[in-house]
Amino acid sequence: MSLTAIIHNAKDVVTSLPILVTAVGPILLVPVAIYAFTTISYHISLSGLENARQKSKVVSPPLLPYSLPLLGNAFAFLSKTPGKFWRSLAGILSKHPAMSILTVYMGGRKLHVLHSPTAVTSLFKARNVSRSGFNRDIIVKAMMLNKQDDKAIYGQGSSNVELFEHKQYEIYNKYLLATNAVTQLTHKFNEVLQRELAAYCDKINVPLQSNKDDEWHSIPMVSFLKEHMFTASTLALYGSKIFDFVPNLADKYWHFDTGLLARLYGLPRYFYPDAYAGIEEYHAGIMKWIEAGNAHHDGLPPLDMEWEEWAGSAVVRARRHMYTEMGISVAGMASFDMGFMFGLSSNAIPCTNWLLCHLLSPSNSTLLAKVQTEVDAARLPGGKIDMPTLLAAPYLTSAFNETLRHYVDVLVTRELNTDMVIENHFLPAGDVIMAPIFLAHHDGQEWNTQPSPYGDKRGVMPPENVWYGERFLKIDEKTGKAALSTREAAGKFIPWGGGAQICPGRVFAKQEVLAAVATFLGRFEVRFEEFLESTGKDGKMGKGLGRDEKSGFPVVKKQYSGNGVVAIEGDLRIGVRMRAGDDEWAESA
Ligand code: HEM
Ligand SMILES: *[C@@H]1O[C@H](CO)[C@@H](O)[C@H](O)[C@H]1NC(C)=O
Ligand SMILES: *[C@@H]1O[C@H](CO)[C@@H](O)[C@H](O)[C@H]1NC(C)=O
Ligand SMILES: *[C@@H]1O[C@H](CO)[C@@H](O)[C@H](O)[C@H]1NC(C)=O
Repeated sequence: MSLTAIIHNAKDVVTSLPILVTAVGPILLVPVAIYAFTTISYHISLSGLENARQKSKVVSPPLLPYSLPLLGNAFAFLSKTPGKFWRSLAGILSKHPAMSILTVYMGGRKLHVLHSPTAVTSLFKARNVSRSGFNRDIIVKAMMLNKQDDKAIYGQGSSNVELFEHKQYEIYNKYLLATNAVTQLTHKFNEVLQRELAAYCDKINVPLQSNKDDEWHSIPMVSFLKEHMFTASTLALYGSKIFDFVPNLADKYWHFDTGLLARLYGLPRYFYPDAYAGIEEYHAGIMKWIEAGNAHHDGLPPLDMEWEEWAGSAVVRARRHMYTEMGISVAGMASFDMGFMFGLSSNAIPCTNWLLCHLLSPSNSTLLAKVQTEVDAARLPGGKIDMPTLLAAPYLTSAFNETLRHYVDVLVTRELNTDMVIENHFLPAGDVIMAPIFLAHHDGQEWNTQPSPYGDKRGVMPPENVWYGERFLKIDEKTGKAALSTREAAGKFIPWGGGAQICPGRVFAKQEVLAAVATFLGRFEVRFEEFLESTGKDGKMGKGLGRDEKSGFPVVKKQYSGNGVVAIEGDLRIGVRMRAGDDEWAESA
């Protein structure tokens, strides 16, 4: 029983609820009775927890009270305010420190939510857990994997899934995580991003060679970066030809990205046409691109080069070889490419945007000045970036970590292959356990009690619901020098998930985000102008598309929970002009 199967059942109950209510109208007292019963059991198991812990007795985790038969807590879980459900759980959990795992009931099944850092760490250390059921649901329901390939890889009794996942991670280790692979990818990404920015400047007549009294040019930063980062990272990983075979690739991708959870949770196309619109064209375009590449190469793309225009980076080409060896069809490969593109873009791009929104917001000029100094220290001639210097910059990396802490919302889900005991809690084989990143990162108990980076005299950190760029720093009172804090404990800050299934793109992702910030602040002189609403479909600023009413700062877009870094609603109009002394850019661009 996978997570989506649970949600699926819950959704079916929701759909049949009107029938249920009409049929059993007279027994509307049932919810009251269920609520009373589950509340009593909950309190009994809570009161037994401390005792059980002292005696090292193994017990089932408490089950969160609910009132609706079968449905349980599914309504609350399917909230369209990201983080709402987890915040409500965090409130309950904070009152009961002995409760490190809480079970919620949805669609007739149980889902065990891990809360304490120790429980999360135990899950990441566990060897007999897997995510293949979850992966399969995503690729089949949200990315159109066809029946034949589904059966070949994930089918009952097929031992292919282990082999498949093993080979995939071998490829990631070699071509996505290894230092030279990351260096190559970051280099390519940066080269394309610089070219993109130069082309943009050319379009709006910003001279690449700056003068002191050049005019400022206004741009909507969020939509600007979303577009150019997408092009740069997709081109670096996938090559340039894909843009010819999938017209309006960026639009297709973002539409696909937005509808992902609705498709994964199996919401019917009839009622949610937008979640499915354009997905066939997107998939078909990728297939055409794969076929044209194969025709061009007269077979598979070569592996012995850094990058080539048809299939881009080595990680993408190696995946192509692997799928072919495993007999996967071109249609299947297109689905797996959609999956990898989601990993590539769904987190890193909004993460960069949130980070820059905070840095450029007018209330943050002090922090921006610190980051600007760090970026300038990592600037090399010709638009190149000294990555080791950038990666060691305390203010920038702390603000990056804080952005991950505040905005990552991934449901780290595992199925148990064997019974497991975590912190005195018994979890039976076959059950689904989840370490929601949002819950770990917004746990007031853990985050709000830490001393300020400026030392205990300044009190504690700002609360967890505030983005605080210096949160990961320790600042020497006497010298004012910033260093990384070592306070952060394992299992509490988990933006990449963990264990065998940890995000394989994490090393590149960090470099990509930091390089994008450094390129942006390194090339342009920037100034805040005003907060904007999001860009509507017609390319104009929309009305009522959301931003914070008081401050004007962008807000988190209303979506189902679990889509990765939460999407941004709102924008910043900023003025840009070329920084003086960028003659080299004109040459490199
Ligand atoms: C800020 C950026 C990113 C964040 C916060 C992030 C986070 C995550 C998380 C939490 C997971 C699930 C891990 C687990 O279950 O334990 C994951 C999986 C994954 N990520 Fe990332 N990621 C980011 C960027 C990237 C990039 C840039 C790539 C590709 C170049 C990538 C590729 C993947 C892939 C392929 C998987 C699935 C692995 C599998 O097949 O099981 N990610 N990511
Ligand atoms: C940011 O988080 C990573 C873990 O992902 C950690 O290794 C690093 O030290 C953190 N950086 C800072 C500035 O705290
Ligand atoms: C892992 O699970 C399998 C059953 O799926 C079982 O046979 C095996 O003993 C388990 N291994 C460990 C280390 O628990
Ligand atoms: C600006 O930065 C400060 C310090 O990191 C933080 O407290 C504040 O929330 C930030 N404001 C915005 C709008 O990002």
